[in-house]
Amino acid sequence: MKHLLSVADLDRATALEILDTAARMNMLQDREVKKLPPLRGRTIVNLFFEDSTRTRSSFEIAGKWLSADVINVSAKGSSVSKGESLRDTALTVAAMGVDALVVRHSASGAAARIAGWVDCHVVNAGDGTHEHPTQALLDAYTLRQRLGDFEDRHVAIVGDITHSRVARSNVLLLHNLGARVTLVGPPTLLPSGVAGWPCDVSWDLDAVLSGKAGGDVDAVMMLRVQRERMSGGYFPSEREYAIGYGLSPERLDLLGEHAPVLHPGPMNRGLEISSAAADGDRSVVLSQVKAGVSVRMAVLFRLLAGSSAEVVL
Ligand code: CP
Repeated sequence: MKHLLSVADLDRATALEILDTAARMNMLQDREVKKLPPLRGRTIVNLFFEDSTRTRSSFEIAGKWLSADVINVSAKGSSVSKGESLRDTALTVAAMGVDALVVRHSASGAAARIAGWVDCHVVNAGDGTHEHPTQALLDAYTLRQRLGDFEDRHVAIVGDITHSRVARSNVLLLHNLGARVTLVGPPTLLPSGVAGWPCDVSWDLDAVLSGKAGGDVDAVMMLRVQRERMSGGYFPSEREYAIGYGLSPERLDLLGEHAPVLHPGPMNRGLEISSAAADGDRSVVLSQVKAGVSVRMAVLFRLLAGSSAEVVL
C-alpha cells in the first residue's frame, strides 16, 4: 500500500492488521519515554489547507513518537495565500526530500490529486465531504476496545450525513469489518446517493435508538452539524434540530446500557450532542482522541516501514 486515500484502499485483513498494530502502539502511551526508532531519518509533512485540532496534532505526535521529523505547513502563512496552486504547493513541498505528505483539504479528491503528482506517500487527513480514513480507523479501534468483534454489531451514525466525510468512511469501513450501520438524519441532511451505500437509513432517531427500527443499537456516533459547509436552510432552526436529532439526556436512556457514545469532534454542544452525553459515562470521545495517535502511528508505520515490518516495543 503506497497511499491511504480512502478506506476502500483497505481490505478487511489490512484494516484489522492496522488496528492490531495500533493496539501495540497504544502500549507506548503508558510509558514515560514515548519514542520508538523505526522512522528515524524519515520526513513527514502535514500539509493542511483546512483547520484541524485533533488530526493535525495527532499525526504530528504519531510521527514524532516513531522518530520521524515532522513539519507542519498550513495554508495560512504559506505561499497558498499568495495564490500558489495546489499542484505547485504539493510539488514544492515534496521536492524537499519528503517521505510522506499528510493532506487535509476542503475539496473532495484533493489528496488523490496530490498522490498523482508526487512520488512520496500520501495520507488523506480529510478531503471535503469525501473521506477521512484515519478517523474511521480510530473509530473502529475505539469500538473494538468497547465491543470486541464487529460481526453483526449495529452502529447508528446520526446527524449531518450530507457534509460528513466521517460518515462515508465509517459506513464503508464498518461494513467491510462485518458491522451493520444505520444512518439517521433529517431528509435534507442525507445525501442523494445514500440508497446505494451499504447501510440502512432512517429519519427517526428515537425509533433507532430504542431498537424499534432495525434492532438494538450497540453504539451511537453523533456527527457535527457542519455549518461552514451549509449554504441555505437545511433545518428550520437549531432548536428544532436539537429536538429532532440531538442526543439529549432523555435519548441517552433509550440506548442499551453497553452502548458507547462517539463523536469525531469538534462538538457543537447543545446542538447535536448534550453535555450529559458528551461528558457522561458512555462517552468515549476522549478515547477516540487517544486512539487517534496510535492508529496514525500504525498507518505511518505501515506506509513508511512496510507491511512486513514488526513493531518492536
Ligand atoms: N475529527 C477531526 O477531524 O477533528 P479535527 O478537525 O480537529 O482534526
